[in-house]
Amino acid sequence: MTGEYVPGLEGVPATRSNISFVDGKAGVLEYRGIPIDQLAESSTFLETSFLLIFAHLPIKEELLNYEAEVLSHRRIKYRIRDMIKSFPESGRPMVALQCCIAALGMYYPVNEGTIKEEHTYESTIRLMAKLPTMVATFHQMRLGNDPLTPRDDLGHSANFLYMLTGKEPDPRIARIFEVCLMLHAEHTVNASTFSALVTGSTLADPYTVITSAAGTLSGPLHGGANEEVMAMLREIGTIERVRPYIEDRLSRKQKIMGIGHRVYKVKDPRAIILQNLAVELFDKFGHSRLYDIAVEVERVCEELIGSKGLYPNVDFYSGLVYDKLGIPPDLYTPVFAIARVAGWLAHWHEQLADNRIFRPTQVYTGKHDVEYTPVSLRSYA
Ligand code: COA
Repeated sequence: MTGEYVPGLEGVPATRSNISFVDGKAGVLEYRGIPIDQLAESSTFLETSFLLIFAHLPIKEELLNYEAEVLSHRRIKYRIRDMIKSFPESGRPMVALQCCIAALGMYYPVNEGTIKEEHTYESTIRLMAKLPTMVATFHQMRLGNDPLTPRDDLGHSANFLYMLTGKEPDPRIARIFEVCLMLHAEHTVNASTFSALVTGSTLADPYTVITSAAGTLSGPLHGGANEEVMAMLREIGTIERVRPYIEDRLSRKQKIMGIGHRVYKVKDPRAIILQNLAVELFDKFGHSRLYDIAVEVERVCEELIGSKGLYPNVDFYSGLVYDKLGIPPDLYTPVFAIARVAGWLAHWHEQLADNRIFRPTQVYTGKHDVEYTPVSLRSYA
């Protein structure tokens, strides 16, 4: 059977899922039916990850048990630390993270093809727990420092920020980062989640599944956009230069980073929450000149390309928040991975429950019956 080719598979359902829902016209995002703004207001990242992966809000005992399990698996093996030590300091952190996640599969082998429930649970806990430690360890080691051991008295977000910066964060900063993780935890079948589904459908081990997804996330059209937003804001430099910069890029058919989304045709609901967090952060901990430039970029873009349904996406304000939290730009995508691993795992669980290997078709555009020419007779035509 051959169907019509749809570039980028836009609008083509790749799976049935009840994990998250997006209404791109109304600007709605729900996790398991709960609006994202309610979760951002009242939940925690680990509770939200439980909701996504295990399909219900945990009762108190479940939540305490899950939090304790994740906490007890935060440390990484010294051999993984040694492996990270051997990485070049200039190496891209997303590549380092992929190597580390893939390596976990050698330390905690799962029988491919016969993935049992206890394996999915154990690997889920390990992946949720260890990604933050691996990112922070790489960062400390590339600075020439000894990595910091996870602190059991700190929650998931506060502990990550502590391991990354060496300082225990202000509780309000830790909460803002926690909300950022929740906002990035899941977003239906995006490119990296699709990678997780495809790799998961071959019954590859969970560490390979999450490595595939992380690789897909690393591209600038997906997880890397917030890094580029910050570079753009720095390049623009002043509010006066915003309009000429945007007009120039648009006239050269270049995209404005952090603007536009395949699904949202209004302002991404996560961008709205992130902007509020940014405002709170800058009010309490000092103003950011780049934030003023970002607001002007949003205003000019709305005027010039808003009619095309192009508005700020989640990446537009997230870099500004991370910058203020002291997270270096090349760690923005690894931070995204620390959050999105929850969504990838949720989709992997769902895929395994009703699995069929992905094997799409293609529209062949090549030749037929071409005669083989020996190398001695070939030349440039
Ligand atoms: N700036 C200017 N124009 C943009 C644009 C942007 N950021 N994003 C899309 N457009 C325009 C395209 O030029 C195209 O215009 P045309 O129809 O006149 O040729 C139209 O909008 C459709 O763009 P297209 O690239 O086909 O949309 P898509 O759904 O394939 O891509 C994104 C979605 C997110 C990849 C795209 O909007 C983008 O590259 N944004 C910038 C990167 C980014 O922020 N990524 C993070 C996503 S969360």
